[in-house]
Amino acid sequence: MKHIVILISGGGSNMLALLRAAQRDEWATRFGARVAAVIGNVPGALGLKRAAEAGVATAVVSHKAFADRESFDAALATEIDRHQPALVLLAGFMRILTPGFVARYEGRLLNIHPSLLPAFPGLNTHQRAIEAGCAAAGATVHRVTAELDHGPILGQAVVPVLSGDTADQLAARVLSQEHVLYPRVVADLLSKM
Ligand code: GAR
Repeated sequence: MKHIVILISGGGSNMLALLRAAQRDEWATRFGARVAAVIGNVPGALGLKRAAEAGVATAVVSHKAFADRESFDAALATEIDRHQPALVLLAGFMRILTPGFVARYEGRLLNIHPSLLPAFPGLNTHQRAIEAGCAAAGATVHRVTAELDHGPILGQAVVPVLSGDTADQLAARVLSQEHVLYPRVVADLLSKM
């Protein structure tokens, strides 16, 4: 069985979309794959509660308990490696990862980012898209490389920016498409593994 580990920091709606797709589309039967664990860096995050309610193993590695990025990433890797994952999916995981961590999971590490990369890497993507006058916005699933939000693109979803949109309104429109995009890209990848 191919194990998938999902890393989250917050509400975990993308994580839930992945869990639902895995169940609905029978990833275990079709691809021999299952979500083995959801790991968070924020104790008490809603997403961890939701994952536990869905019957998935959860763990917390709080970044605040570590003096630097290297020691946090080492502890996170120890927790991840317990599951020997074929894929590690960042789903609203809001930590910058060290090059050593990225190299350890090279070829297995994916992220979803709420913009049409290479536009708007980093934070506040929706506000920046509105201020730039973009007619379209969206989300990108990409392989993770050492440079933040710059890895090879595996899939994108596009939504319109409507006149008068607030960042929150645009974020909600993008997020609903993230929930379709991420499972589609992961299923496609699993079908080729
Ligand atoms: C999503 O919009 C995701 O694309 C974004 O955080 C949100 C998490 O929502 N990720 C990043 O900004 C990564 N830099 P969720 O916890 O409900 O899935």
